[in-house]
Amino acid sequence: MIADPSHLNHADDPSDHAERRAALAREIGASGIAVIAATPERNRNNDVDYPYRPNSDFRYLTGFGEPCAIAVIAPGREDGEYVLFCRERDPAAETWIGHRAGTEGAMARFGADQAFPIEEFDARIGDMLSTRKYLYMTQGIHPEFEQRLLARLNDLRSRGRHAAPPEHIISLNSVVHEMRLRKSPTELALMRQAASTSAAGHCAAMRAAEPGVYEYQLEATLHYIYGLDGMHWAYPTIVGAGANACVLHYVENASALADGDLVLIDSGAEYRGYAGDITRTFPANGRFTDTQREVYDIVLAANEAAIAACRAGAKANAPHQAALETLVDGLLELGFVTGDRESVIADERYKTFFMHGTSHWLGMDVHDVGAYKQDGEWRALEPGMVLTIEPGLYIPPGADGADPRYWGIGIRVEDDIVITDGAPEIMTSAVPKAPAAIEALMSENA
Ligand code: GLY
Ligand code: MN
Ligand code: MN
Repeated sequence: MIADPSHLNHADDPSDHAERRAALAREIGASGIAVIAATPERNRNNDVDYPYRPNSDFRYLTGFGEPCAIAVIAPGREDGEYVLFCRERDPAAETWIGHRAGTEGAMARFGADQAFPIEEFDARIGDMLSTRKYLYMTQGIHPEFEQRLLARLNDLRSRGRHAAPPEHIISLNSVVHEMRLRKSPTELALMRQAASTSAAGHCAAMRAAEPGVYEYQLEATLHYIYGLDGMHWAYPTIVGAGANACVLHYVENASALADGDLVLIDSGAEYRGYAGDITRTFPANGRFTDTQREVYDIVLAANEAAIAACRAGAKANAPHQAALETLVDGLLELGFVTGDRESVIADERYKTFFMHGTSHWLGMDVHDVGAYKQDGEWRALEPGMVLTIEPGLYIPPGADGADPRYWGIGIRVEDDIVITDGAPEIMTSAVPKAPAAIEALMSENA
């Protein structure tokens, strides 16, 4: 059991955030200033909001988990380079809505050099901007706030020759996203924890599966395990039995498992802001059929080939290329496509059965940030980068080119990989993917 739950937004270690702000300050220099706001709460219905989760860039830099907060990082500023605007303490509001750090807590617990009530932002930001040449601000992350900040910049311009507003506006996104792409040892430890609980959830769901059980009951099994460890799901869980597995983002999870179905589960827990992302596919009744194995073994081989390609120095698309070649060879053997590997890849005929990529960066966002290409070229993988490996084959009923005995099979096998100086680290190996290991686990009663 984890003692430090992710839903307590104050659980982050403040020194990690201080290091990140210091790195950002070095990057933007003494003539720069960075301003970033927490995204607003979202309404679910009438008086009910969704549980609050700030935008990942804001959490990455501040560790502050409350809405209505704005961080300013102004390197070399005399009164302190980290200023946090936040909601002030308010006993009446806290009785109804929950605890607030207040400006005092922002300084004492979250490392702010200065903190002001959020209502003072508009009045104070002009002076902070006025001595800086470069304004780093988010783009498209909190549009309403971004417009407001630009309006304050215009106010400053209208002060005429007595003010010196920043001449250049630079996207903060790409600077912070490049930082987030390389995970620190602390971040990797959190991600291993997310991966471990995600794997435990998948194992529990496999043990709970049998014909007649509903997809949403397996979802509940996963989420129960996440909840026991103080975690929340990182994205809505997909449980697709039979042909539902061929719908890539199927989240209704409303059908019963039928004898003879394969079940695809794509689910991950979020631990202190970091996501796990695992997919496994297994037989509802605990035994793969020969037909299912024909397809499963191809996807598993593609997963393993792609993981083997996760090497420092390799291009970021090398895992996809390895998976694609294995999948296409398999499709040729099954007779779903004809011709040779090169032509099937060149004219993308495989896309009838494999229509998504093999990898995405993984981190605070499940589809994490960071450029895949630099100057139009695939970037090289580096130690500390984390990515998923998730090849799949999907053969919906009626699929052209596939013998009807394969119809309704959808398979994806997804792992979370850390690039190291040597062999790739598979953070999600605690949940089985070899058919015999899956069958052995499923024979253990839930
Ligand atoms: N769970 C989302 C994805 O695998 O990309
Ligand atoms: Mn994924
Ligand atoms: Mn996934």
